[in-house]
Amino acid sequence: MKLTDRQIAQFRDDGFLILPSLFSPDEVGVLKAELPRLFAERRPENFREKRSDAVRTAMALHRRSDVYARLVRHPRLVEPARQILGGDLYIQQVKVNAKAAFSGDVWQWHYDFATHHGEDGVPEPLALNLHVLLDEATEFNGPIVFIRGSHKRGAAPAVLDTETTSYPLWVVDNETVAGLAAEGGLVAAKGPPGTVLIFGDTLVHGSSINMTPWPRTIFSLILNPVSNALTRRNRPEHQHHRDLSPVVPLADDCLLADADAAG
Ligand code: SIN
Ligand code: MN
Repeated sequence: MKLTDRQIAQFRDDGFLILPSLFSPDEVGVLKAELPRLFAERRPENFREKRSDAVRTAMALHRRSDVYARLVRHPRLVEPARQILGGDLYIQQVKVNAKAAFSGDVWQWHYDFATHHGEDGVPEPLALNLHVLLDEATEFNGPIVFIRGSHKRGAAPAVLDTETTSYPLWVVDNETVAGLAAEGGLVAAKGPPGTVLIFGDTLVHGSSINMTPWPRTIFSLILNPVSNALTRRNRPEHQHHRDLSPVVPLADDCLLADADAAG
């Protein structure tokens, strides 16, 4: 799948793209069917919320599920990333952020490069975050909120927050957020299941709690150029994979085709 010139220009300008319903209900069904088994596992790749046992984020899913092993090589994710970045890309991180009904906690205002640089020594803010909404994201259930154009300011000041949630995160202070939001405005990444979000490493984003009865489950794949790989191994492997093999896309029907046929 190729992005149009207009979509690429919009990505460069806004810092993100929202592509509605790129994956079909059947494909989303296949992805969601894996989650009860994966979330039930007690292992370090599953981070639970600070105040409940609900899964906050489940990592390294391509190592834990054949279906997610295919999703990380899906052409509807990999080809747009290669188009934007050029060159060979490796799989940096693979996760599902669950944001469970009634208990899904906040993701503070942040941009991903603060963590990629601060923890992993990634040299440049080139990585792309490719999301697939696995539930409908509405204004109510804690959608990701982007600050439009915030990537253009480059890496904002950030501090490591180990207190607010169960997941340590390099976050941006309120004053910086206020300035960026006044300039670019906020956009909630809403859409039906199967919607794809693409955003860059310095785009400031966050999400509020989910106090609704509806979960807001999102798959996230981070791809980074092999030429921009990590230089430090501070964090566990599931937070930044060490295998720098270039990702090669599969066939477009790889999620619905038989697992053996898809390789
Ligand atoms: C979220 O799941 O709301 C945050 C995701 C992200 O920071 O990429
Ligand atoms: Mn993020």
